[in-house]
Amino acid sequence: MEIIKTVAELKDRLNDYRKGGKSVGFVPTMGALHKGHGELVNYSVKENDITVVSIFVNPTQFNNSNDLNLYPRTPERDYDLLEALRTDIIFTPSVNEIYPVPDKRVFDFGRLDKVLEGEYRAGHFNGVAQVVSKLFSFVMPDKAYFGEKDFQQLAIIRQMVKQLDLKVEIIGIPIVREESGLAMSSRNQRLTEDEKVTVSAIYRVLKESTYMINEYSPEIITNRVVGELNSIPGLHVEYFSIVNGDSLETVSTWDSTESIFGCIAVYCGEVRLIDNIRYK
Ligand code: PAJ
Repeated sequence: MEIIKTVAELKDRLNDYRKGGKSVGFVPTMGALHKGHGELVNYSVKENDITVVSIFVNPTQFNNSNDLNLYPRTPERDYDLLEALRTDIIFTPSVNEIYPVPDKRVFDFGRLDKVLEGEYRAGHFNGVAQVVSKLFSFVMPDKAYFGEKDFQQLAIIRQMVKQLDLKVEIIGIPIVREESGLAMSSRNQRLTEDEKVTVSAIYRVLKESTYMINEYSPEIITNRVVGELNSIPGLHVEYFSIVNGDSLETVSTWDSTESIFGCIAVYCGEVRLIDNIRYK
């Protein structure tokens, strides 16, 4: 495994591999890796000759400098984990390497980046698109792997790839959860042991709600999920919406579209967690 810090060196190395006819899989991350990231890497290692994992805490996607500063950084542990998973290249650039000049690009994703997370994290997905488009142009992967945990991010990346006419195949990987049901996230490290128990209610309530879709409308289920989670001391639901899995627009009936998901953001103290569940 090689740890590469510059774009020039990364391109050189990947050129060599490509000349040898090797396929390249890519897993972009912000580090503080856990088994959720590990699952993406496992898929890439299985499906490609070479796997590149980037570790870069991207400043342009944080709209809160406190959140950026508090973002966990565990490089040595990350390297060990990636080595064990048979990663070939870790790309871990400095901010200057990625943004030698400020990135002024503004993407137009229509309503896709205005709903759900977009309502509460203005500019977040523009920052994600900036960094991922740059990383794609450096790595030029055949396949790139993203978690369904960040459901809206996956939709935005697919849209960006269409708009920029990129050749990369985007592969979505199901959410990896703790035994308690809590979706794995780097932010979970900021929860106390008691809080970890409290937040396990998120998945339990979401899961239970999937059993009710024959009896209740999306609106009634939305209100029940929000009410139930907000009644738990320590939890505060920022939003919960039952949406069309493609457009991410709220649905009012269960038969209005092919795929329907419930997407949620919940605060536990200062820590903001997101999760989602498939209804159909
Ligand atoms: P990060 O939060 O580090 O996540 C990297 C990838 O791991 C994302 O595709 C995310 O959806 C996936 N992931 C995280 N937790 C997961 C889980 N429990 N199960 C399955 N997949 C999971 O997402 C980002 O970084 C950044 O926005 C990035 C795309 C790297 C751009 O900066």
